Amino acid sequence: MPPHTAVSRLVGLALAALAGLPLPGAAQDYYADVRPLLVDACMGCHTEGGIAWSMDDPEAAYERHRLIARMVDDRRMPPWLAEPGHQTYRGDRSLAEAELALVRRWAEAGYPRGEPRPDPRPAPAPDGHPTFAPDLALDVLPGQGYLPDQDASDDYRCFLVDWTGDEPAYVTGFRADPGNRNVAHHVVVYAVTPGMMDRYRELEAEEDGPGYQCFGGALPDRLGQRDVRAAYEARYPDGLRQMSNSNFWLAHWAPGMDGHVFPEGTGIRMDPGSGLVVQMHYYSSNAPGERDRNTRLDFITAPEVERPAIHLAQTRGDWLVSERSGTMVIPPGARRSFEVGDRLGSLLGYVSALTGVAQDRIQALEIHSANLHMHSFGHSGEVTLTWDTGQVETLLSVPRWNLAWQRDFTLTEPKVLGRDVLDDVRLAVRCTYENPTGDVVYGGYGSLEEMCFNFSYIAVRSGTAAGSPPVPSPR
Ligand code: HEC
Repeated sequence: MPPHTAVSRLVGLALAALAGLPLPGAAQDYYADVRPLLVDACMGCHTEGGIAWSMDDPEAAYERHRLIARMVDDRRMPPWLAEPGHQTYRGDRSLAEAELALVRRWAEAGYPRGEPRPDPRPAPAPDGHPTFAPDLALDVLPGQGYLPDQDASDDYRCFLVDWTGDEPAYVTGFRADPGNRNVAHHVVVYAVTPGMMDRYRELEAEEDGPGYQCFGGALPDRLGQRDVRAAYEARYPDGLRQMSNSNFWLAHWAPGMDGHVFPEGTGIRMDPGSGLVVQMHYYSSNAPGERDRNTRLDFITAPEVERPAIHLAQTRGDWLVSERSGTMVIPPGARRSFEVGDRLGSLLGYVSALTGVAQDRIQALEIHSANLHMHSFGHSGEVTLTWDTGQVETLLSVPRWNLAWQRDFTLTEPKVLGRDVLDDVRLAVRCTYENPTGDVVYGGYGSLEEMCFNFSYIAVRSGTAAGSPPVPSPR
């Protein structure tokens, strides 16, 4: 969590001490000690109209005291997949050790209830940006709604939206406003490179209703079926690879994130003629029969930024067609790990193409984030920087994967790697899967296939080719 939140809770504890309330170390009770923690750390989601069961009524919430203590002790709630001890991240909503200890002592004392009292006022949400001031709003479902698939508990649906604007612009902040938060669980926005939107619209037209099913990312899942893929590639030779390369991760929203401002001075370039693929993840079982309407995307844009950035999507293309390539195969009952790494120096061409910064002007790369992506057989994973000297730095470790809580883990301080060391270090992602079924699981685009991705937000420091001061590297 950001230091100010921890501090405000510690100040709360100090005030409690002055007021003669129980101190850490003394017996904890529900109303004096645990309830304020629930208000701060849980009720952003656990409230009437929120995304999880409501804790608004303190007595009703108390009824679930054992489950609450267990979920907190296990670090399952509040949901935050990153293992502590490696890096510090922005918007970290995991609990501090002192808060975990408080809940443990309360459980050990037999969950004392204490004297009922009114709830304290909640601390501001860690991800809240009250000053988030968008200058561009785009409707995802103009003039129509979408009824999520009522027969499946999850529905991943992609909608196509044109990017507006006649000049190149940089996206520096993003917020999604889902029209119906009872059914919308998360939103990922992919940018489509100029001139490729027609190819996406053609695929959309082949499915009923607005949009298309897209569990696996920005492309229709149907392309994962052998016959559909073969027909597509007969029409567009190398078409699947072209489609994969024509989109990149732009931004995302998950519950609890109300506005995401990219690191100061950075932004992602969007050219005229680009498009967006908006991947909505719906949980229809939460609200049967309810439609999504009026979902909107808000952007902060700037005509220029100091350090243009990309979202690198890191994986191996042949994993996505593993029934054919045989490269990602998880036998029945087995646990398997897969790893891919890229030397940072080898990414310069790609970085240059997306940011528009000439390769010889790139002085350093700033790695701002890591974001692991697997499907439902995912067990755990890591994103690391590995130096030729053997030194390894863990950017993100997820010991217990959960598809529902995927997000960007943005470092409070980026890793800045000078041009001179980019060839000596690999950015790598490692994914571990468990297959409890009786069937082989392959890498692929479908919901019962697997993926292994890291998404890293990487910004470019540039200068004139000659005479610019070297950027320090961490070694
Ligand atoms: C970012 C939103 C969010 C926050 C913050 C959050 N929860 Fe949850 N919680 C959920 C969702 C969604 C579910 C239901 C799905 C799941 O279990 O992942 C849930 C489920 C639960 C459950 C039920 C688990 C079960 O097995 O039925 C408990 C208990 C719980 N949360 C406690 C807490 C506590 C205690 C906190 C704060 C310390 C907290 N949650 C913070 C979203 C959240």
